[in-house]
This record gives sequence, structure tokens and C-alpha cells, in this order.
Amino acid sequence: MSAPISTHEAEEDDRNEGIFIYVDGAIVPRAEAKVSVYDSGFMLGDGVWEGLRLYDGHLSFLDDHLDRLFQAALYIDLDIGKTREELAQAIRDTLAANDMHDNVHIRLMVTRGRKRKPFQHPHLSAYGPTIVIIAEHSTPREDVVQRGVRLFTVPHHRGLPLTQDSKLNSHSKLNCIIALNHALRAGSDEALMLDPFGFVNTTNACNFFIVRKGAVWTSTGDYCMNGITRQKVIDLCRADDIPVFERNYSLVDTYDADEAFLTGTFGAQTPVFEIDGRVIGGGVAGPMFGRIRALYKAMIAAEGGR
Ligand SMILES: Cc1ncc(COP(=O)(O)O)c(C=O)c1O
Repeated sequence: MSAPISTHEAEEDDRNEGIFIYVDGAIVPRAEAKVSVYDSGFMLGDGVWEGLRLYDGHLSFLDDHLDRLFQAALYIDLDIGKTREELAQAIRDTLAANDMHDNVHIRLMVTRGRKRKPFQHPHLSAYGPTIVIIAEHSTPREDVVQRGVRLFTVPHHRGLPLTQDSKLNSHSKLNCIIALNHALRAGSDEALMLDPFGFVNTTNACNFFIVRKGAVWTSTGDYCMNGITRQKVIDLCRADDIPVFERNYSLVDTYDADEAFLTGTFGAQTPVFEIDGRVIGGGVAGPMFGRIRALYKAMIAAEGGR
């Protein structure tokens, strides 16, 4: 059995040891970038974040990321204390401090900030939000596309919005991490998660698609992260006359799919070659994956990135 790989494997890059990180308005060397042990994010996972990419000097889909961040912040009653433009400028300042121009992954994090006492009550977070921006040199490893990802269906499902809405990119990712641990212990790479009714939904870190008879299927979009890459893939299919369906489907339709792939900002599209021990698509990336990947690259280039 081969060692697990993740959809977030990047080429090793020593420059990341010397990066500068944005912490509440200051841009400091990595070793000095720290938040308080009283921080709401550290203590309770009380915060929201976005993962963005810089391609050829262009922050891809910046508006979509800011929309999602502000939507989540409004929902959890977290005042970011900055405008969209101020946040975008903080990202650009961080990139400039690092002289970064291409193939960069950015994690923008906003927590409810430092607390007066180590308890849950939001009013104890009395000093305003904590904002951290980590930008790393990050080129996704191409061998992940050659090797494909193995998925294992886990018993941990995506919850209803009645509990913690899966559309919140919250600092606490425990539900996803528990699911991933289960898959790793089973010798797989990532966890395939079902919805409360047993329909195939998403993975612990990416959105999930299958291809059947020339059509692209993904979940209804309920119970999973409203992935920006997911939506771009759906839009690209529609624009290129590829039949695409957001629908309920089960593992019955999944094990004999012609292709399966994942989407996320980091890796864009990553092929899946195995699910619960069943080989998908003969264990090689299929033609639809190639077509969608090419369309996505062209979209990034047209947007301003390479
Ligand atoms: C659970 C989960 N699913 C999917 C995604 C992919 O979303 P996006 O395409 O916006 O990066 C993420 C990214 O943060 C995620 O955390």
C-alpha cells in the first residue's frame, strides 16, 4: 500500500522558511508571527478564513472569496473591522513584503480576537478581531495528478445547517479532521463524506464530482462548502455545453463512474483513482478531467493570471 498523499501537496520551497506574515497590521518575519494564547481562534476555533491563490500577479476570484468571508462573518456576528478594499490591500501588502508574484497560496484568517478570560462568551473577545495573512510559495505537485487520490467513505457525515453549517469555513475543522483521520487509518488519502441521507456529498477538504456517460455530476450543494472552484467548474461546463447536474446520487452511482475528481482553490482539479477499494476510470485521469482542467486554466489566464 503506497503512502498517503494529500490534495494539498506542494513542491518543497525553502523560501517559505523566511516569509513575512501579516498579523494585525504588522508584517513580521515568520518566527515572530504570533497570536495570544487568549485568542478566540486558538482557544475555541472561533473565526473564519479563506484560501486564495495568486497566479501571475493576479489574486484569483478575489471578489468571490471576500463575498464568502463577509457572509460567514455576518452569520457568526464577527465584525471584521475592515472594508473589503482594506483586506485586499492587506493581502497585497503581504505579497509585496515577500516579493511574491506567482504560484502563491494565501490563507486569510479572521478570528474574534483576544479574550479577556478563557471562556466561550463572545463578549469576552473585547479587543477587536485578529487578522492574519500567511502567503506561501506554493506550486501543487504534479505527481498528485499522475498518482490520483484514493478516497475512503467515512461514517462521519456533513451536518445539517441546524448544527454547524458546512458553508462556514470556520477555524475549527474538527469534523473534517476526524473524518480524514478515519480515512488515513483505513490506508486511504482523503475522506469521502455523505450527507445525512446517505447521498455522496464532498470530501474533508475538497468538493467532489463524478463523470458518467459524458455528464458531470456533483451533489446538490447542500451540506458541503460552497466551493468557489466547484462553482467555476459548474459554470465552465455550462458554458462549454458539458451536461452538468447538481443532484443527489449514492455510492451505487459512484463506484462505476467513468471518472471522479476533486475541486479546491489549492489544487484546482485533482483526479480520484480509487474509492473504497474500487478503481475508478482504470486508474488514470480521464478525458473529462483533462477538458475541465484545460478550461479552468484558460479561465484563470483570461481573468488576469497565467
Ligand atoms: C471542506 C471544504 N470543501 C471544499 C473546499 C474548497 O473550496 P474552494 O474551491 O472555495 O477552495 C474547502 C476549502 O476551503 C473546504 O474547506
